[in-house]
Amino acid sequence: MSKIRLYMKIVKLFLANKTVRCEDIGKSYTTISPYYENLFLKTMHRYNDEMLLKLLECADLTNSSEILDLGAGTGYNSIFLQMKLKAGKYTLVDISKGMLGIAKKQIIQKSNLIESDMLSYLKGCEEHSFDVIVCCWALKYQPPLEMIKQFQRVIKKDGYIAILLNTSRTLPEIRRIYPKLLEKNVDKIDQLMLPLPNPKNKKVLNRWFKKYKFNEVMSSEGEHEFYFPNAEQLTEFVTSTGALAGFDVMIKLREKEIKTQLVKLFEENKTYKVTHKFVYGIYKQGSLIPYKQDKLS
Ligand SMILES: C[S@@+](CC[C@H](N)C(=O)[O-])C[C@H]1O[C@@H](n2cnc3c(N)ncnc32)[C@H](O)[C@@H]1O
Repeated sequence: MSKIRLYMKIVKLFLANKTVRCEDIGKSYTTISPYYENLFLKTMHRYNDEMLLKLLECADLTNSSEILDLGAGTGYNSIFLQMKLKAGKYTLVDISKGMLGIAKKQIIQKSNLIESDMLSYLKGCEEHSFDVIVCCWALKYQPPLEMIKQFQRVIKKDGYIAILLNTSRTLPEIRRIYPKLLEKNVDKIDQLMLPLPNPKNKKVLNRWFKKYKFNEVMSSEGEHEFYFPNAEQLTEFVTSTGALAGFDVMIKLREKEIKTQLVKLFEENKTYKVTHKFVYGIYKQGSLIPYKQDKLS
């Protein structure tokens, strides 16, 4: 019965176009911004680093290289490149005031920080403006194919795109429990969060880029498990990392009563861990020097 009520509510919200918007996701990130680095990035940055180091091996960047960091968050990727390169011109785009506020305090070099939806920003860019586009843990917040179509237009000849994002199989533990939470709280839902368009695996990511004539320089996939001693700590983690941004608008996950229900559901399901599944890839148009794995060792 509660399933039927939930489906009816979803259809109603969909028909009324009451979906979670980019701005709502930006606000979610602003709320969790004080915790993002300490809870998520402190561990997961190793995959950002892995990809960025591979990018640095391929791309011949100079003082005047134009680098675009989309969904830049607290600025981690730009800061990483600035520390390694000590040069370049950086543009960081993010829709969250809170995340960008932290980036502003941390960034090393003078950079252009822009509070905007990344797809709208790309659409306003001139053709062939950037040597490198980096987008970590954020591509899913806009339709990926529309984003890649814009990459094709704004990237310079021989420029590089570096993408790191979750796959559609990420957080299986949450995907099992979230619908149950919705069923229990149908009356509290007043916005619909649509499924995030993450790729199933690296093959799919490569296919998306190939469609827009990008060559794959390299791609990789993996997963990372976070373990917790109890359901309370797991709940605190998943509601504070940004991993559920948007889903926390559909149902107010940080409300005390909802949090208590979430803890109970994790306990009932004996769930004390979450698994982030991800893929990353580096792409370029024009001539391609094959990436050699052993270059790194
Ligand atoms: C998981 S964080 C990743 C931050 C950073 N790239 C990193 O690697 O740490 C995702 C970021 O994407 C931003 N974001 C979400 N939707 C966006 C949009 N439509 N346009 C621009 N930024 C967006 C969020 O505000 C958040 O800062």
